[in-house]
Amino acid sequence: MNKLKVLITREEIERKVAELADELRRDYQDKHPLLIGILKGSFVFMSDLIRKLNIPVEIDFVKLSSYGAGKEPSDKIKQVQGVKTSIKDRHVLVIEDIVDRGRTVRFLLDYLGRRKPASLKLCTMFDKPSRRVTEVPIDYLGFTVPDAFVVGYGLDLNEEFRYLPDLCVLEDQE
Ligand code: PRP
Repeated sequence: MNKLKVLITREEIERKVAELADELRRDYQDKHPLLIGILKGSFVFMSDLIRKLNIPVEIDFVKLSSYGAGKEPSDKIKQVQGVKTSIKDRHVLVIEDIVDRGRTVRFLLDYLGRRKPASLKLCTMFDKPSRRVTEVPIDYLGFTVPDAFVVGYGLDLNEEFRYLPDLCVLEDQE
């Protein structure tokens, strides 16, 4: 049995999205950036963020997956669905829900970097630095979270809980 405990409330998340949007608006105002979300987890954050940004942006998604069933990730990143938009000379901003071991984002930044964007930055809502195995430069960050299994706001366990508006810790119950 699992028990959910709220770690970051929907109100805190909403305030943080607005702060990040203010910062991004200042930096990208005249750049017509291309925001690339990593599916599936980032879809909730992406949709909140673009509606607060209030500047013209283009969006695309890439589907990458590192986790199999359950809580442990596999080592291999599989690019399931690639970016359709041409990114050469574009200002590209990768949108992620959480950077954990760092492999997913590292893979995508390397992949996109080879395609010569005008700039390439990373915005993630959550960061779990205690689990990092590869270096990842985070340019825009929402919250640092502890080393616990978190779900909600797009994040899942076996495809459950993505719909929760708060970020919750999933605790094993005796
Ligand atoms: C999760 C999460 C990140 C990634 C982070 O996605 O959404 O994209 O893992 O892990 P890492 O930093 O250790 O690489 P997942 O692979 O579970 O796919 P999903 O977004 O479809 O749930």
